[in-house]
Amino acid sequence: MKKDLRGIPLIGADAFALDRYESALEQFQGYVGDPVATIDEALQASPGFIAGHLMKALVLYTLAERKFVPLAAQALEAARAHSAQANDREQGLIAATGLLIEGRWQAASRSIDHVLANHPRDALALQVGHLMDFYCGDALNLRNRVSRVLPHWDASLPGYSYVLGMHAFGLEEMNQYPEAEATALGALSIQPKDGWAVHAAVHVMEMRGRIEDGINFLVTREIDWAPGNGFAFHNFWHLALFYLDGAHHDRALSLFDRHVHPEPASFLLPLIDATALLWRLHLEDVDVGDRFERVADDWQARLDGEAGFYAFNDAHAAMALAATGRESALAQLTLRMQDATRQGDTNAAMTRDVGLPLTEAVTAFVHGRYADAAARLESIRDGAHRFGGSHAQRDLITLTLIESALRSGAANLARHYTAERLTHKPASQWGARLWARAQSAAPLSSAA
Ligand SMILES: [Fe+2]
Repeated sequence: MKKDLRGIPLIGADAFALDRYESALEQFQGYVGDPVATIDEALQASPGFIAGHLMKALVLYTLAERKFVPLAAQALEAARAHSAQANDREQGLIAATGLLIEGRWQAASRSIDHVLANHPRDALALQVGHLMDFYCGDALNLRNRVSRVLPHWDASLPGYSYVLGMHAFGLEEMNQYPEAEATALGALSIQPKDGWAVHAAVHVMEMRGRIEDGINFLVTREIDWAPGNGFAFHNFWHLALFYLDGAHHDRALSLFDRHVHPEPASFLLPLIDATALLWRLHLEDVDVGDRFERVADDWQARLDGEAGFYAFNDAHAAMALAATGRESALAQLTLRMQDATRQGDTNAAMTRDVGLPLTEAVTAFVHGRYADAAARLESIRDGAHRFGGSHAQRDLITLTLIESALRSGAANLARHYTAERLTHKPASQWGARLWARAQSAAPLSSAA
């Protein structure tokens, strides 16, 4: 029986298919090239390659767009057609992929973990599990899923750096900043081009308000993480956030134009970042030209297909539609989200608990109902991890809450949440700007 380079047994693969599987796996881990095209080469040569079909299904599914679900389901069916020959790992991945396609993300994540219990060096299962933990906002398992397999890995195994990169990000999302940074640097000492490990270190700098460190880290390493990397848009987005902190709006917009949204988006992940960047600028009343219109065009073109699939996507669509005054499209999106809450899948709870209230808050904000926006945002802020994303992405909720509080005259409320920001990010100029506005808005009754 064939095994991959980490000793994972694979049914139905010849030597060529195995070679393509390894290449596709590294493309998936490193965000380089097109792993689906690569694994398709393997499947053409070896149609009975079960893990090849599963890799295709999982790579497509973890793009988190409804439009890829039929293709993922097709690949799963191709795997199932050979399930009589499948080994235990492949049976486990078939079950997990089926749960994903049913929209039962948390059950799928547990199912993937059972595969990892028996095959802790299954780099495909680990990568998919990590991404689903991210989409589920499961910070504990962003760290601990990797912790549970880490003793089975060492530097002699291909892809070890990616495992460290994942662990670094999980540590960061669990607020273990020194450990996260050291682990990310360890990953980068092995594979300097690992954009996910770069990203983990950058998140540490973002969360601690180490703005200059973040800019220097990204700029000096750009030659490693940017060229040809499908994840570079997101690290450029982080660089833009650092520039926003210092109110260097021109630099942030230049990065937007060149790297975050240089053309109509092909995928939703960069469209989310484009939206989140423009929304932050919207909060600061910065003129962004026609950029929000172009981003809203991208969302509106996808509304029929994607609305109601994933609350995190929908909430970003809502920001673009709201900021550009597209009332009818926003109402249509809201209806679709209300429908989504009645489904029995993971997204139903995400939409009910976070996505829909956030969309209603954003709507209230653009209509000038700032007190209403602030109240809605307060009610979801501390549980908003449940619809996925990172702390840095969800910071937009707090920023919108503070801005809503300032605009509604609730200066003490604005000061309250800005104080949290100042404590965690003492060097952040954005926090200082908000603090100054809150201080000038109204005096405190019991403290200086
Ligand atoms: Fe990030």
